Amino acid sequence: MSKRGKRGQGGGPKVTEKKVYLRIEDLPSVGTATAQKLREIGYSTIESLATATIAELAAAGIGEKRAAEIISAAREAIEVSWVTAKQLAELKKGVGRITTGSKALDRLIGGGVETQSITEFFGEFGSGKSQLCHQLAVNVQLPPERGGLGGAALYIDTENTFRIERIMQMAKHVGLDPDEAAEKIIYAEAYNSDHQILLLEKADRIIKENNVRLIIIDSLTSHFRSEYVGRQNLPERQQKLNKHMHKLLRLARAFNAAAIVTNQVMARPDEFFSAMAVLPVGGHIVGHTSHTRIYLRKAAGKNVRIARLVASPYLPEGEALFRITENGIEDLEEEGR
Ligand code: GTP
Ligand code: MG
Repeated sequence: MSKRGKRGQGGGPKVTEKKVYLRIEDLPSVGTATAQKLREIGYSTIESLATATIAELAAAGIGEKRAAEIISAAREAIEVSWVTAKQLAELKKGVGRITTGSKALDRLIGGGVETQSITEFFGEFGSGKSQLCHQLAVNVQLPPERGGLGGAALYIDTENTFRIERIMQMAKHVGLDPDEAAEKIIYAEAYNSDHQILLLEKADRIIKENNVRLIIIDSLTSHFRSEYVGRQNLPERQQKLNKHMHKLLRLARAFNAAAIVTNQVMARPDEFFSAMAVLPVGGHIVGHTSHTRIYLRKAAGKNVRIARLVASPYLPEGEALFRITENGIEDLEEEGR
């Protein structure tokens, strides 16, 4: 996140001319009434406005010209603009990673789940999607030298499968105070797809105020799948899902947070062992906006799972094995270091 210039204190030398904007109403062209409107549609921080689109602000009854001014003022305030490739490399250095608990799985995905993009875990029931979400919600709290980001997690649960006891068990195992760990997971159950969308749209303030570095949606697709049944409803479902994913991506970028979504898929019995044999419910749209996609399946051996990297912006495809134990997500054997 960019540092903002300090306001010159009276008398002393002027440090910088750059204005400090703390609240959205401080931006030029945003008055109190507009700020209220923006908050109602989920834009309560400058970061979120900087990554908004004109059409989204127009939804709050703000004219296009005004919307463009607001967005550009917000961008200027947080210095989102063109960068050189060299600066880009610097920005990328800011990408953080969260350990999954398994070194083999971390290695497969380039060192852990990364910030500023979306990671999708997909697979059949019981393949370990929710367990990975629980583990990452704990691990994000670890200090960087132990594979965390020293931050909190935001957890949107759509299937009521979040278990606080499991969090505490995992926290204890990694040496975190279980109660403190539970306090750093900000939880909401989404009752339907609209509620799910709304929860995310209203999340930016919570993310900022709580130093949230990991946003989880488990499951991304279950409500959409049950509510938009039939072919005729597919375009609407995809369009909503697409928008939801873009909102998630923008939050991940604005707050340098990791984003994780899960997606239950059914294996086709005829091609059971092929990763290509699964049909993610979100179809191609989810596929394109997810930067990293990991297919999970059960394997022979007690609680063993196979993770297959099926899409990544820069990593080769590959597989890794891990185990789900009382401790959480672990390697099969203690790996030689
Ligand atoms: P769906 O949400 O149904 O699509 O499945 P999922 O992919 O989210 O599966 P989940 O992550 O819930 O994985 C379930 C598996 O994790 C179970 O089959 C158990 O083997 C294991 N598991 C879940 N909870 C615990 C627990 O508290 N202790 C242990 N040892 N294993 C657990
Ligand atoms: Mg689950």
